[in-house]
Amino acid sequence: MSVLVTGGTGYIGSHTVVDLLNNNYDVVIVDNYVNSKPEVLNRIKTITGKMPKFYEVDCCDENAFRKVFEKENITDVIHFAGLKSVGESVQKPGLYYSNNIGSTLTLLKLMHEFDVNNLVFSSSATVYGVPDHVPLKEDDPIGGCTNPYGETKLDIEYILKYETSMCSKMNVAILRYFNPIGAHKSGLIGEDPQGIPNNLMPYITQVAVGKREHLNVFGNDYHTVDGTGVRDYIHVVDLAAGHLAALRKLTEKPGLVIFNLGTGKGTSVLELVTAFENANNIKIPYVICPRRPGDVDENYADASKAFKEMGWEAKLNIVDACRDSWNWQKNNPKGYDK
Ligand code: NAD
Ligand code: UD1
Repeated sequence: MSVLVTGGTGYIGSHTVVDLLNNNYDVVIVDNYVNSKPEVLNRIKTITGKMPKFYEVDCCDENAFRKVFEKENITDVIHFAGLKSVGESVQKPGLYYSNNIGSTLTLLKLMHEFDVNNLVFSSSATVYGVPDHVPLKEDDPIGGCTNPYGETKLDIEYILKYETSMCSKMNVAILRYFNPIGAHKSGLIGEDPQGIPNNLMPYITQVAVGKREHLNVFGNDYHTVDGTGVRDYIHVVDLAAGHLAALRKLTEKPGLVIFNLGTGKGTSVLELVTAFENANNIKIPYVICPRRPGDVDENYADASKAFKEMGWEAKLNIVDACRDSWNWQKNNPKGYDK
């Protein structure tokens, strides 16, 4: 009785594996290290005292992936594996479609073959496109994604809806993440972006550690509290807990369920900068720059459904996340590279 965690050595996957092991789940990780490092496994062992089973396999490689299903007694799957860079997806749309959708189709085929019926899928608030109101509820319209990355998440959501409507045994939880930040409190695992970070928090921590001179704030003329973009920043440890709540939900055999995982609170870029400065007593120099194409004014969740139906809610706040992101970055200035 094991939980298969695809992409389990990545940022959100590693935090979820820690929570699963601490709650006595048997875990089998499959990852091809396209965006993660083997060192993550040692860090997971240091935190939990347990080394998870690991297979270096590309989820698009059906034959290699089938061997994992043959060897392990898999009952549930959490599918994190995927490429996630918006900019790269615009440059290489084919790669994003083949990796993200291809891996999911292969996984579904093997789940049917081995009669594995419970799946938790990593979706994103990006499926709401350009929202005309906030907070966003799960039954608000989806679509209108402005990049191939977002399109792959949308397409996979549709595939999973059809799968569950065709196969009465299948139970699927689609989790729409808002903006994950923070790190495990040990400072042993965290977000380790390759190259120049696209996302706000890793950019701030790299300014703090002296790797970048200043933060570029993309626009201060949005219709928001201070003109900078507003997002729903959720601590990755809370997000990880949302996956355990979803696994428990699937034991009720609900068919398809969809949940926003966010805090329900919006925070502007400058509010996050100030929170980081106050939490860590470090000044973050910034420069106001033009807007980044594709960005929206405000995006935050109505997360009440996850609380009502799974008893899950975010417990940590942005100050906790700023402290933990910095603790990870300062202890690992080069990420997982020594
Ligand atoms: P990540 O890049 O840190 O983790 C993804 C993991 O999947 C990596 O370890 C990578 O090596 C692995 N992987 C990718 N393609 C693979 C393949 N074909 N076979 C095997 N392994 C493969 O990303 P993350 O931030 O942990 O995100 C996890 C999931 O959540 C992704 O699907 C992402 O799109 C989604 N998501 C992330 C965010 C975010 O802001 N981090 C927001 C919304 C949704
Ligand atoms: C981005 C992606 C989204 C993806 C998510 C998680 C875009 C348009 N959206 O969301 O599809 O699901 O990441 O990977 O890329 N900001 C700065 N300076 C920076 C970086 C960001 O000012 O150096 C601002 C942005 O303009 C935005 C906020 O910070 O207002 C958050 O940005 P980011 O962390 O990239 O997340 P999203 O844009 O919400």
